[in-house]
Amino acid sequence: MERSPFITPLFLSLLRKTTVESGHLALLFAVASCTSRVVRGLPASLRTSRTSSEASSSPSLLGSMPRIGIRKLLSSMAVIQTGEPILKLFTVGPVACYPEVLEAMGEQMYSHRSPEYIKLHYDTVERLREYMETGNDVYLFSSTGTGFMEASVLNCVRERMLCCVNGSFGERFAEVGRAHGRRVEVLEPPLGNPVTSGMLEDALKEHPEVEAVAITHNETSVGLINPLKELAGVVKSHGKLIFVDAVSSMGGTEIKVDDWGIDVCFSSSQKCFGVPPGLGIGSVSEEALKKSEGAPNKGWYFDLKLWQKYHDQGRGTPMTSAIPQVAGMNAALRMIAGRGGKGWYFGLFKRRNTKIREGVEGVGLSTYPEEGYESPTVSCVNAPEGVPGPEVYKAMRGKGFELAQGYGALKDKTFRIGNMGYIPDEDIDMMLEALGEAVSELAP
Ligand SMILES: Cc1ncc(COP(=O)(O)O)c(C=O)c1O
Repeated sequence: MERSPFITPLFLSLLRKTTVESGHLALLFAVASCTSRVVRGLPASLRTSRTSSEASSSPSLLGSMPRIGIRKLLSSMAVIQTGEPILKLFTVGPVACYPEVLEAMGEQMYSHRSPEYIKLHYDTVERLREYMETGNDVYLFSSTGTGFMEASVLNCVRERMLCCVNGSFGERFAEVGRAHGRRVEVLEPPLGNPVTSGMLEDALKEHPEVEAVAITHNETSVGLINPLKELAGVVKSHGKLIFVDAVSSMGGTEIKVDDWGIDVCFSSSQKCFGVPPGLGIGSVSEEALKKSEGAPNKGWYFDLKLWQKYHDQGRGTPMTSAIPQVAGMNAALRMIAGRGGKGWYFGLFKRRNTKIREGVEGVGLSTYPEEGYESPTVSCVNAPEGVPGPEVYKAMRGKGFELAQGYGALKDKTFRIGNMGYIPDEDIDMMLEALGEAVSELAP
């Protein structure tokens, strides 16, 4: 088989480094078909079992490849994929990544058992512990954040838990509990309303037998933030474990894990930190680890005691680490530290979010959640009267901006504007101007 010495390893490295959605895969083939040499090499190598061994036996080729080549190809992927000039992202995850992050992720691979990785791993963990204000262990799962939902249930709930549900992701936590045969009590305020301390107090009085409470800090599907500090206080006053889904809040707004007594607090790389998907980040308390001891049928991959063992032995992760994502996280945390620390970063989110919400109001639209509980990272916007939310989303794509569609029960009524990740200030002005145009075209 004749094969391009350059393109085939390049394509294989892209396949390994990106979350390959079907569109990306089709795209890779589309790009491949532009070069006759590639047409002969790529599909065959992807079809045969030689693929991975060939790729791994070509480190020198990969190593000597100019990184700009990857860059160009990645950006052209976006062009071909959308059929338009690159869209500016105001998504709710994955979000646009910081240039520093992409740079760090473009490095050659090395072993997750090497001293180089171990240094990177523990440096990243230390930075995250400081960010989350915790003395607890922080584990870096080679999964997305949902892995920590699974882990919390498997390790820390024998029979019963209470799930606070403000939307689709709270509902997911409850589903994970049920999927593992746990009895799940649900506290669900009307959609768009927060869980309040009073509601939680009542629910815990009604269900004193639950072992743990799961709370979605920032419900991405409806753009709502819950008053976590107060809710955590209620949970602790009842002596229960508390699991916090901070997937779309960690990094963008304050979370004091130890002060607030959070037992498992987790997030995903592809949200506020502006890193590609593939990393679950979570802190785990001593109490949660104690509960994991002797938990029956907790499986292997998400066994928190196993993660603790490798962590304590200075070996990082029990299985292969998502090295590029960890390098990306490390770069994001260094970038934040270098520009003024987390206070600066929280302020950036607040500024962007305020600007977006004021802009939305300026074009005559309103946001969905109860006033005072609007998310600092995602604005869930009511579509104009008589206009389906997906139409606004589509119109904005036509103008060069990728927002997010409404989610779950709100799919038709709303659209969402994320302010996570890499968003230059001037892009917000341009996006709001385009939104004004879209609204006057759709609802004249
Ligand atoms: C609040 C919340 N929880 C959980 C998830 C799931 O995260 P992941 O896809 O990283 O597992 C998301 C994803 O958007 C989310 O916004």
